[in-house]
Amino acid sequence: MAGRLAGKVALITGGAAGMGAAFVRLFAAEGAKVVAADIQDELGRKVAEDVNRTGAQALYVHLDTSRQRDWTNAVAETVARFGKLTTLCNVAGIYRTEGTEAETVEGWDQLIAINQTGVWLGMKTAIPEMKKAGGGAIVNISSVAGLSARPMAIAYHAAKAAVHLMSKVAALEYAEHGIRVNSIHPGFTMTSTASMLPEEMKKALAEPVPMRRAATPEEIAYGALYLCSDEAAIVTGTELVIDGGLSARH
Ligand SMILES: NC(=O)c1ccc[n+]([C@@H]2O[C@H](COP(=O)([O-])OP(=O)(O)OC[C@H]3O[C@@H](n4cnc5c(N)ncnc54)[C@H](O)[C@@H]3O)[C@@H](O)[C@H]2O)c1
Repeated sequence: MAGRLAGKVALITGGAAGMGAAFVRLFAAEGAKVVAADIQDELGRKVAEDVNRTGAQALYVHLDTSRQRDWTNAVAETVARFGKLTTLCNVAGIYRTEGTEAETVEGWDQLIAINQTGVWLGMKTAIPEMKKAGGGAIVNISSVAGLSARPMAIAYHAAKAAVHLMSKVAALEYAEHGIRVNSIHPGFTMTSTASMLPEEMKKALAEPVPMRRAATPEEIAYGALYLCSDEAAIVTGTELVIDGGLSARH
């Protein structure tokens, strides 16, 4: 199949729902062979089945981003099925609202394990295969919360800020191997989880956005499509903010 990602094999975490599922569908439509990885097995299998019905190729694998063993299995299954791994999108993430005093050690540890350690484990496990493939592209989903602060959600801000700089570190380490690493910083995005918020909260989140609305998951996926395609062959170690202008206002 021709497309902007023809010849690529992409592993996408959080692929069962929200932004990750939009990445899976768009990447497959653009010619990549795609592995959707998540902990929601039933939903994830359905996303892969939907893609396969379109004539594109997708596979679902169970992966908890915080577990090295799951990463090892997911990368091995990707290579066994599609022959190589060229592209990794670390999309999976959880959110916690707790501020500095209210956050618990258990809550902190869980969020950091999934949102931050998970991104590192993903890069650590995928990069050897990308080297074998002669290069690759990694997109790590951070957030506008990784670039500037608001009160509360201290663990989330900590993890997203870490993902921002971890992406730059890896970009510098692997540039000579032809492996590009960039981060995307979405603002408020109307994913399945976000659409379940009370109407009042959705309004309050959209209100400060200059474009006056949330992004769609597809609008974030188009940014990742560019960064993972050969159109971005010289783009590494940078950040793409997709937030309707929110962070331009300071
Ligand atoms: N929605 C927003 O407004 C927004 C804004 C900025 C950044 N983000 C980031 O975008 C990413 C996707 O968010 P979303 O809104 O699509 O969320 P979502 O809750 O709709 O989807 C997240 C997916 O990650 C999966 N997941 C959760 N824990 C996991 C784990 N341990 N291992 C593997 N998969 C796991 C879930 O099962 C789910 O399928 C997250 O990293 C989030 O922090 C979201």
